Amino acid sequence: MTPEEFRRYGHWLVEWLADYRAGMEGLPVMSGLRPGAVRDRLPAAPPEASEPFSDILRDLDAVVLPGLSHWQHPRFYGYFPGNGELSGVLADFLSTGLGVVGLSWQASPALTEIEDVTVDWMRQAIGLSPAWTGVIQDTASTSTLVALISARERATDYALAHGGLQGEERPLAVYVSAHSHSSVDKGALMAGIGRDTLRLVPFDAGYAMRPEALAEMIAADLAAGLHPCAIVATTGTTATTAIDPIEPIAEVARRFGVWLHVDAAMAGSAMILPECRWMWRGIEGADSIVLNPHKWLGVPFDCSLYYVRDPQHLMRVMSTNPSFLQTAVDGQVRTLRDWGIPLGRRFRALKLWFVLREQGLEGLRARLRRDLDNAAWLADAVRGMPDWAVVAPAPLQTVCIRHRPQALDGEALDRHTLGWVERLNRSGAAYLTPAVLDGRWMARVSIGALATERRHVEALWRDIRAAAEGSAPPA
Ligand SMILES: Cc1ncc(COP(=O)(O)O)c(C=O)c1O
Repeated sequence: MTPEEFRRYGHWLVEWLADYRAGMEGLPVMSGLRPGAVRDRLPAAPPEASEPFSDILRDLDAVVLPGLSHWQHPRFYGYFPGNGELSGVLADFLSTGLGVVGLSWQASPALTEIEDVTVDWMRQAIGLSPAWTGVIQDTASTSTLVALISARERATDYALAHGGLQGEERPLAVYVSAHSHSSVDKGALMAGIGRDTLRLVPFDAGYAMRPEALAEMIAADLAAGLHPCAIVATTGTTATTAIDPIEPIAEVARRFGVWLHVDAAMAGSAMILPECRWMWRGIEGADSIVLNPHKWLGVPFDCSLYYVRDPQHLMRVMSTNPSFLQTAVDGQVRTLRDWGIPLGRRFRALKLWFVLREQGLEGLRARLRRDLDNAAWLADAVRGMPDWAVVAPAPLQTVCIRHRPQALDGEALDRHTLGWVERLNRSGAAYLTPAVLDGRWMARVSIGALATERRHVEALWRDIRAAAEGSAPPA
């Protein structure tokens, strides 16, 4: 493609995306396609001959659009807010268009230094002390894996430099809440901790980790000859946004000399609000933190922030430093390949930089407060209605609800819940993702898409009740 063709098609594509965002409200939120429907429209073999670019673009409407569930839709209440501010979309496009790869500072100084600055802006924005240094990773899953490898290496005095885990006499143990995200399990398994010593710490009535149970488990494991290595606490669990109490958990970590990683992937965005900071009181006692600006904050996927208190340790664990990557200025600059797993680095900082500047912290705070208000409104409305319940504390933007008519119970209740959620999703009026809580299905309403206003949440509540009464709400 020549630069002239790029100019023409690029303009067309920006128009297409702007129309998509502006007209989204008219689309059904969830794609109604059957499995395989998109694949059936694509040739099984790659094209031998070049195709006109206009034909490729035509397939956006014909093939791609019907196969999308629209995360940026004002009636999207699934999973978590996966927001992409349009200023961040432009930055992501720019990053790809510039086509630089941050192998070292010298490979593109702006890539490293804008990342340095924006990650430190975010540190200030979320109220962390200057004792923390951050880096951008792709996802929270990667950040947590890096944290658990770092914990393993601290516990084993850098086993990777000699026998690795195979040289260890005592099996390592990792402690997570039963409500932790699956990426925490996965990270522990990938870091070499087997299921046998991946401990699920009991939780309290609000689904938060119980620090005294944690301390008992660690003491028992020590007595049994295990080597406790890391605790992962969550600020804002995935199912219910439960808040593990960081302060007493950090005290347990300190007492036993165990690494504390805090997974604030979703709720970390809320730490830009001073009134929410109680949720991670004691955070300065942790060793590492992850939060995802690519969730609620509005930086387009992917952009995960990983903060550590001991960067020297991280670099010692992650650095390999082959000669072909060394440069004369290495002693004066940050070498971000030593702060994580991949060597190559995208210019992700651009989208964080653009979004922070275009929105300003004031704009971001106002939007998050709007979403918290909307969630509180919905929780109140649900609590006020017979046969309806809010089934978990709702400190943030996720409201977990259940409709239980005529004392329906057991599997009949599950069928009812899954039935009305499916009816609602199929109608196109909204998109909710149910989850199991205490062994029974419930509906999670995750509020916080950029375009979701109070009127949408009011309409949602009407549509939810219609779906639960058995009728399909109008799309
Ligand atoms: C608490 C929590 N941790 C981790 C993740 C995983 O995030 P990522 O997709 O960035 O790996 C999620 C979201 O899906 C989450 O809610």
